[in-house]
Amino acid sequence: MGISTKEGLQRIKFSSVDFIGIEEIEKELNHSLEDAKDVMKEMCQHILSAGGKRVRPLLVLNSGLVFSGQTSQLLQAATAAELIHMASLVHDDIIDNSDLRRNKPSINKVWGTHFAVLCGDYLFSKAFGILSRNRLIASMDLMVEAIQNMCQGEIIQAGERFNHEISIDRYYEIIGMKTAIFLQCCCKSGAAVSEANSFQLQMIGEYGLNLGYAFQIIDDILDFCGRVETTGKPKCEDVRQGNITLPLILLMKDPAYSAWVTETIHNREFSEETLAEVIFVLNDKGIIKECFHIAAKHILKAKECLTLLPQNAYTQLLDELADMLQARVN
Ligand code: IPE
Ligand code: IPE
Ligand code: MG
Ligand code: MG
Repeated sequence: MGISTKEGLQRIKFSSVDFIGIEEIEKELNHSLEDAKDVMKEMCQHILSAGGKRVRPLLVLNSGLVFSGQTSQLLQAATAAELIHMASLVHDDIIDNSDLRRNKPSINKVWGTHFAVLCGDYLFSKAFGILSRNRLIASMDLMVEAIQNMCQGEIIQAGERFNHEISIDRYYEIIGMKTAIFLQCCCKSGAAVSEANSFQLQMIGEYGLNLGYAFQIIDDILDFCGRVETTGKPKCEDVRQGNITLPLILLMKDPAYSAWVTETIHNREFSEETLAEVIFVLNDKGIIKECFHIAAKHILKAKECLTLLPQNAYTQLLDELADMLQARVN
């Protein structure tokens, strides 16, 4: 078993000289939401106190630091990225009908859909307030691109629910749009604040994109194999919602299991026993291992992009972050 991502990020922190990390982001996040009132305040506090890995703001910050020193602009762009991520999670839990997030009841579970929609919108607006007040135009364009892709990706995913014939290409299209492009845009956002040139923007973006593919593939593996206490999210939620992810797509290619899995999906028969059996077979047939292997290939690609960038403590840090996300258990 790997180490927790948070633990790993702390380790990185101490291994590099002037790493600007989680504490600064935390402070800015708290500050950005402190004027919320009444129920909105309660919801914001609930989200803030639940934590999270803060991967996206760390990508913004450290991608920027590869090209120049720390500025408050960079920290603001990073804060906006996490607010957008938090907003997307609040809305995602409504869509997925999920009642657990970051080891706490989801916003929709506690306050209902009505307030959860508004909470997500509020967080989006807070993010764009920060970007506009700080004149972070390039970052704003990138966040717009990320959100639009995320929404389109979620729509495609919804259209493919319970489709046992979903192809690997379609799966890639979905995870690219809903997750990987956001990570790509985070990296480019930081680099743009630091005035990286167009080649550098493209390369750091490729790093983020591949990291993003690996990130979502591992998230989809953890949905089957993670421990609820560690992931802080319900288990087997994807398949219950009809989202057919890489492990199942690969299992359906095995003639011995294709009919059984197809029928299970078709009948929506997801009892605890059936799901336990699916998980057993995924492990037994080496499919989980294969999925990790596919994720590892993306991690490698991501790391290769870094070699074409200025070599300093921050490229090193992004390299370590890629290793960490590969080994993540939450
Ligand atoms: C969850 O993202 C949504 C996915 C894209 C899989 P994270 O795994 O980064 O969630 P937190 O921020 O750590 O809770
Ligand atoms: C990522 O997909 C969702 C977003 C784009 C916010 P998931 O639905 O797999 O994310 P989790 O597993 O709920 O965090
Ligand atoms: Mg979800
Ligand atoms: Mg998931």
